[in-house]
Amino acid sequence: MSYVYLCRKLTLLFDMINPPYYADDSRYNCGMTYERCGRSGLLLPRISLGLWHNFGDINPLATSRDMLHFAFDHGITCFDLANNYGPSYGSAEDTFGRVMESSFRPYRDEMVITTKAGHDMWPGPYGNWGSRKYLMASLNQSLRRMHLEYVDIFYSHRFDPQTPMEETLQALVDMVRQGKTLYVGISQWPYEASQFAYDYLGARDVPCLIYQGRYNMIDRKKADEGIVEQAAANGVGFTAFSPLQQGILTDRYLNGIPDGSRASRGRNLKPEMITPELVEKLERLDAIARRRGQTLAEMSLSWLLKDRQVTSVIVGCSSVSQLADSLGCLNNLAFSREELAEIDSILLA
Ligand SMILES: NC(=O)c1ccc[n+]([C@@H]2O[C@H](COP(=O)([O-])OP(=O)(O)OC[C@H]3O[C@@H](n4cnc5c(N)ncnc54)[C@H](OP(=O)(O)O)[C@@H]3O)[C@@H](O)[C@H]2O)c1
Repeated sequence: MSYVYLCRKLTLLFDMINPPYYADDSRYNCGMTYERCGRSGLLLPRISLGLWHNFGDINPLATSRDMLHFAFDHGITCFDLANNYGPSYGSAEDTFGRVMESSFRPYRDEMVITTKAGHDMWPGPYGNWGSRKYLMASLNQSLRRMHLEYVDIFYSHRFDPQTPMEETLQALVDMVRQGKTLYVGISQWPYEASQFAYDYLGARDVPCLIYQGRYNMIDRKKADEGIVEQAAANGVGFTAFSPLQQGILTDRYLNGIPDGSRASRGRNLKPEMITPELVEKLERLDAIARRRGQTLAEMSLSWLLKDRQVTSVIVGCSSVSQLADSLGCLNNLAFSREELAEIDSILLA
């Protein structure tokens, strides 16, 4: 048997196990819509995919890859990562890097890939918070893990009260100047500090592209504190993370806590949070969703996206079917005044 023949056979075998990926030709005609991100040239899909959970090295690579392919095939062009997503830390970026190598590379220019640093990442004084030392080193590591030359958006993952804001923000400016990120954003910064960031970055011709904050029907702090409005007033986009309150605002917990669910794992969502009072509220929300011809997940996302100040929502998922369900929200973004009042009466009572 010749060497060339053997190589061909091995390639065929590899392709059978791991068929080559070709993105769906209809990916931009299947219902996804795109919204301008603040006062910028960048359009973001109204639904982005986040890799916080379910894409780490404890998860099967095939499942992660299927969810990423499904997302891109359905017009999701924005993938949200951070240095420490996994578990283990860094492994969601590793997973994304493997998919980039095996299938996404030809589509790189169709994607907005984001990463962040600001939370605990490596031991010692330089692997956390907002110093230039940490942020610069972390971005270099993220690029290596994801096999990328640059990311599209780099975020300061959280406000650091101990580091001068100028230091954190100048690191963001310099990352853009070095060509390692195209845009920068901030996540979970408080109101006053956000205004400082918008002014500082704007004065250096690296305008803040986007604010990322937790926002959903249950947790409305970012709107109540004026942060959503402030972003719009400054020409900055707003993207909502945990739009399903980590799965609470879906049918996931209507009949107990399923094995394998985020609450059953108890890390970021504690099982004791799923109280009978909460489930009773979710049942009433579910009834409204059904009347609207939606699932509860769809309605929860529609509720956010009805407001164009919310540029995008970053959903998580543990299966392709969950993501398929969430995508359906785009079919009905209009709410009557009565529906909104009923939702408020359930959640704000
Ligand atoms: N900037 C920050 O500080 C920050 C913080 C947190 C998150 N984020 C970003 O936001 C992204 C999303 O956060 P998240 O994962 O908390 O979002 P989420 O969309 O609120 O929750 C995702 C979880 O909800 C469940 N789920 C999703 N769709 C469902 C459906 N249709 N039906 C039933 N259950 C469904 C799944 O739970 P199961 O796993 O139980 O199946 C899934 O893992 C993250 O990946 C990350 O990119 C950013």
